[in-house]
Amino acid sequence: MKRKLKIGLFGFGCVGQGLYDILCKNDHFNSEVVGICVKDRNKKRTLPPEMFVYDKWEILNNDDLDLIIEMISDTEEAYKIVTAALKKGKKVISASKKMIAQNFEALYTLQKQYHCSFLYEAACCGSIPIIRNLEEYFDNEPLKSVYGIFNGSSNYILSKVYNENLSYSEALKQAQELGFAELDPTLDVGGYDAANKLSIIIAHAFGTIVPPDQIFTYGIQNLHQAEMDFAKERKLKIRMQAKAVKTSQEKLAAFVIPTFVDVENPLYYVENELNTTLIEGRFSGQQQFKGKGAGGHPTGSAILSDISASLYHYKYEYKKMEYHENIIFDNDIKLKIYIRYRSKESLSALDINHIHLQAKHGDYQIAFAEANLQNLAEFKDQLSHEDIFIADLSNLKIKLDSTLSTSPSEYLQNV
Ligand SMILES: NC(=O)c1ccc[n+]([C@@H]2O[C@H](COP(=O)([O-])OP(=O)(O)OC[C@H]3O[C@@H](n4cnc5c(N)ncnc54)[C@H](OP(=O)(O)O)[C@@H]3O)[C@@H](O)[C@H]2O)c1
Repeated sequence: MKRKLKIGLFGFGCVGQGLYDILCKNDHFNSEVVGICVKDRNKKRTLPPEMFVYDKWEILNNDDLDLIIEMISDTEEAYKIVTAALKKGKKVISASKKMIAQNFEALYTLQKQYHCSFLYEAACCGSIPIIRNLEEYFDNEPLKSVYGIFNGSSNYILSKVYNENLSYSEALKQAQELGFAELDPTLDVGGYDAANKLSIIIAHAFGTIVPPDQIFTYGIQNLHQAEMDFAKERKLKIRMQAKAVKTSQEKLAAFVIPTFVDVENPLYYVENELNTTLIEGRFSGQQQFKGKGAGGHPTGSAILSDISASLYHYKYEYKKMEYHENIIFDNDIKLKIYIRYRSKESLSALDINHIHLQAKHGDYQIAFAEANLQNLAEFKDQLSHEDIFIADLSNLKIKLDSTLSTSPSEYLQNV
């Protein structure tokens, strides 16, 4: 590229600093960061003060800029910045998954209206190149499912609790100290961060817009030693799985839920803060990516790739949405679940069927059961009660009325 690419940044936190560092180290990349908009005037910075501005319009109104990159932690402000830039016909890149997922339809409409490029590879699983793959490589192939581990913090906690016998709160504290977990960890451990990413991925993989609040999302906050013992006794692991799956020719279900996986499942081998995405195509079979889902440099590398793509005027075409598929979102499907509970009465409101007791753990009962995903969503408040924990067993080859293995010492006969 002959002329220097002039870039305006929003945000200089973990991602912003990671990207800046990458741009400085990539000297063959002819770019200049003209200004950085941040919020806190009193924060100590690693760059000279003249690099920073505090009024978004100083960057948005700068007609010299080729590209705006939004990496801030304020979802509402991020939306204002991105929409203002798109309306001005600027090329925009964003890492803000929550903002994109919550406003997907409006952002999609703006891109069409203003014929501008809006790229957000960094918003879905950090360094893993999933969006452009879905857009360019799997743009024609009908997909059966896209699933994986989309949140590094919850995977880190599950790995540490399982592999090193740390308590849940110790593992969460470690994840926060290492910078994997948000200060308010609910987004991570509650599955909401993964649901935001899944919502964005669904639009590119299946051509359907499913807002994140419609995705059934159940977290690991109620995880108990009982689950770890149950898993270890049966050589299973627990993973926080995000999944979108075709349930018929024209229907799609989507959920984020703790899931027991065995050695045959690729999720079994993804440890600590790593993320993975699996794409299951009708003809291609299964493809897997595994890599760093967060952090300044991994996320910055995805933004660098978007910067490079925007140099040749690349835009998402949303081909599945525009031309191909007409898929309806419908969570009316049955899951086989593991359920831990204290008393059968606590399940009475939940509409869970065919409960087959498997084991006891202290005061708790552990059972296999069948549940409708739609019903689980309706009773989410009851499921959040600390005396209950559910996890998906659907991908294990078990019958509900069978036992998973004979090893547990407190094994009970089916009832
Ligand atoms: N961290 C990751 O690994 C990762 C990965 C993928 C995507 N993301 C997404 O990328 C975005 C940034 O994440 P981060 O981890 O870099 O956050 P962060 O470390 O908390 O930094 C946030 C940055 O946003 C700035 N900011 C907040 N509100 C602002 C406002 N109203 N106007 C201007 N600037 C504002 C902050 O300014 P001050 O410096 O003045 O406080 C700070 O520089 C988030 O949407 C996040 O979900 C993060």
